[in-house]
Amino acid sequence: MESSAFRRLQTIAHHVLLLVPETSTNILNPNHSSSVELECVDSSSYPVIIGGMVLDVNGRPFTDTLPGTTTPGKIQHVSGGVARNVAECMSKLGSKPFIISVVGLDIAGDVLLKYWESSGLPTSGILKLQGVTTPIVSNIFDSRGELAAAVASVEAVEEFLTPDWIWQLRDTISSAPLLMVDANLNPKSLEAACKVATESGIPVWFEPVSVTKSVRIASIANYITCTSPNEDELLAMAHALSSGEEFCVDKKESAKRKRQSIESFFSLLKPAICVLLEKGIKLLVVTLGSDGVFICSREIPSFMKDSLKNTRTSFYEKQLYELVNESCPPKQYANSPCALHFPALPSSVVSLTGAGDCLVGGILSSLSTGLDMMQSVAMGVAVAKAAVECETNIPAEFSLTKLAAEARQILLSAKQLVLD
Ligand SMILES: Nc1ncnc2c1ncn2[C@@H]1O[C@H](COP(=O)(O)OP(=O)(O)OP(=O)(O)O)[C@@H](O)[C@H]1O
Ligand SMILES: *[C@@H]1O[C@H](CO)[C@@H](O)[C@H](O)[C@H]1NC(C)=O
Repeated sequence: MESSAFRRLQTIAHHVLLLVPETSTNILNPNHSSSVELECVDSSSYPVIIGGMVLDVNGRPFTDTLPGTTTPGKIQHVSGGVARNVAECMSKLGSKPFIISVVGLDIAGDVLLKYWESSGLPTSGILKLQGVTTPIVSNIFDSRGELAAAVASVEAVEEFLTPDWIWQLRDTISSAPLLMVDANLNPKSLEAACKVATESGIPVWFEPVSVTKSVRIASIANYITCTSPNEDELLAMAHALSSGEEFCVDKKESAKRKRQSIESFFSLLKPAICVLLEKGIKLLVVTLGSDGVFICSREIPSFMKDSLKNTRTSFYEKQLYELVNESCPPKQYANSPCALHFPALPSSVVSLTGAGDCLVGGILSSLSTGLDMMQSVAMGVAVAKAAVECETNIPAEFSLTKLAAEARQILLSAKQLVLD
């Protein structure tokens, strides 16, 4: 099933390439980023991404799995971890993210560091510790490609990515255009990172990771500028932030509302969304799988330190900014509070993992080139589409022209919703 989808995709890609001749400059590839160009980038303005680097061991059975026995299938080693995925995606879009993470001196750690070293990304924020096991997650998928079960051994991030290590890197954080933290960090480290950023006026993006870890937002909500939960994470976060109020949504009801209309589905999630906005989160991007995203805010934040706007230094960042700004002219969504639905474009799904991380990577890369929030979220949705259409977590390369054209289509079909 997967291989026929892949062949179909290759055929489509072939036709797209025939129809839209690409110049080599707008196909991004980390190997293109020459060392000369990297030297021109002032390291003090790297977007900072803090969280897990994980080696995923993925088992994809050929048929449905049965308990108590083995099922024939394919096993692959894939570099993952939310923060690592977001940073890799950003690097492939021309950004130079500075990652703060931890690995052990073992085989998994070597595999994870290889991409960073070969693409010239800074590794000085990655703690390399003797005697520590590099985070590993073993994923089992079902025959449709959805995650069926997973075992995570990611204690290294909880234990060794300490407030002290974050504190040692405070100069890098406080001169970044933006900071993303993933919820794999322990609560003390999350708070340390948020404090350093907030004291210097750096906006903070919180990536919830999982339903269980998403509730870590409770103790740092007042520092968070934006967060990007899926439906389940949104409900868990609202529950944690409202001292025990239940926000259960029946799965059947949720599916029924989705079939009815996007407005009907939105009204189901609205109470939870309002809790997060009342607790001080400026902007929410709620991910809806193949239905795209909701964007909700009381006031659209300027998600970039003003002094760092228009300091796009790399050739690729300039190109991303210009292509997107041209095909998606900035539009004022003056209505505040504001709630919008951005649909996802139809896609040929190959693998759903990495979609959420690419959405965030696409948004953060776009924001750090100086694009506005709406242009950036539209780019994020286009980047996430590319992620579901490839087998790896992060596509091997992006076509900026294609992404900009898709972002335009997404913005044109955006729908205004009522928040109050
Ligand atoms: N079938 C699909 N077709 C097109 N786009 C999709 C599809 N599934 C997901 N996406 C895009 O990816 C984004 C994130 O997907 P999803 O809502 O599943 O997030 P998530 O649960 O956080 O995913 P992940 O487990 O990958 O982190 C969606 O908002 C959408 O833009
Ligand atoms: C972005 O596009 C808008 C509208 O087309 C234009 O006015 C503005 O100058 C562009 N910004 C830059 C920096 O090119």
